[in-house]
Amino acid sequence: MPLETINESIYDHPKYYDLVFGADCAAELAFIVGCGDRYLDGKYERMFEPACGTGRLLFWLAKRGFTASGLDLNPKAVDFCNARLKRHGHPESAFVADMSEFKIRQRQDIAFNTINSFRHLPSEATARGHLACMADAVRPGGLYLLGVHLTPTRAEPSETESWSARRGHLSINTHMWFKHRDTRKRIERFGIRFDIHSPSRSFRINDELRLRSYTRPQMDRLIQSNQSWQILETFDFAYDLDEPIEVDSTSEDVVYVLQRQ
Ligand SMILES: C[S@@+](CC[C@H](N)C(=O)[O-])C[C@H]1O[C@@H](n2cnc3c(N)ncnc32)[C@H](O)[C@@H]1O
Repeated sequence: MPLETINESIYDHPKYYDLVFGADCAAELAFIVGCGDRYLDGKYERMFEPACGTGRLLFWLAKRGFTASGLDLNPKAVDFCNARLKRHGHPESAFVADMSEFKIRQRQDIAFNTINSFRHLPSEATARGHLACMADAVRPGGLYLLGVHLTPTRAEPSETESWSARRGHLSINTHMWFKHRDTRKRIERFGIRFDIHSPSRSFRINDELRLRSYTRPQMDRLIQSNQSWQILETFDFAYDLDEPIEVDSTSEDVVYVLQRQ
């Protein structure tokens, strides 16, 4: 029998989003903290995440004693994030805002944005706005760890992914697939669905993600357009600090370690 299907944003379902994407944070957390040790001589305390979603990373950083805060456009994700922080005795430090247009009072040591959230920004103007806001938000010398999936110019992009997550009696099978690329407008559309199974109900959430595309030269130009940021090193989504990569025309998953000048 076909699954009951609802067409809604996966970001409006933080409980399911957090299970699907929150299961495996260890490598990202080790990378964030490792960057602080490597590039800031261990002198870092304040962590900030634009587009923090459910705060799967912020929560663990708060738990490890860092001052962790973030913002997201989706109020449901922010509520989920703050509720979890509060439940565990941490300040409710997430707030609703647009990452291309925000201001925070205290400067941060490390900011991070690891899984392509940056590509939700729909235009060059909003991407530049974001880098400018981030330059105000991070102290001179501080870091911005920006993870993006680039469009390779000399290899076929990888197009589909499936994975599963389970907690207790709740299990979710996720499938994400490429739908369409408008090269001129630089928009890529992906289908994503969560098949959710619990003892009381099985159903599907069907959504579409629209992400702006970046080739390596487009990303280089964007970063160079803001003199506050310099690329220190680049890595892939294995987050292995011992294995920096050189970004070339075949690169896809790239984490830019940017330093605030
Ligand atoms: C792939 S999720 C990542 C969430 C979180 N960073 C994580 O690692 O789990 C992308 C997030 O970007 C948020 N988002 C999209 N556009 C945004 C914007 N303009 N400003 C702030 N957040 C935005 C969405 O609401 C969503 O929570």
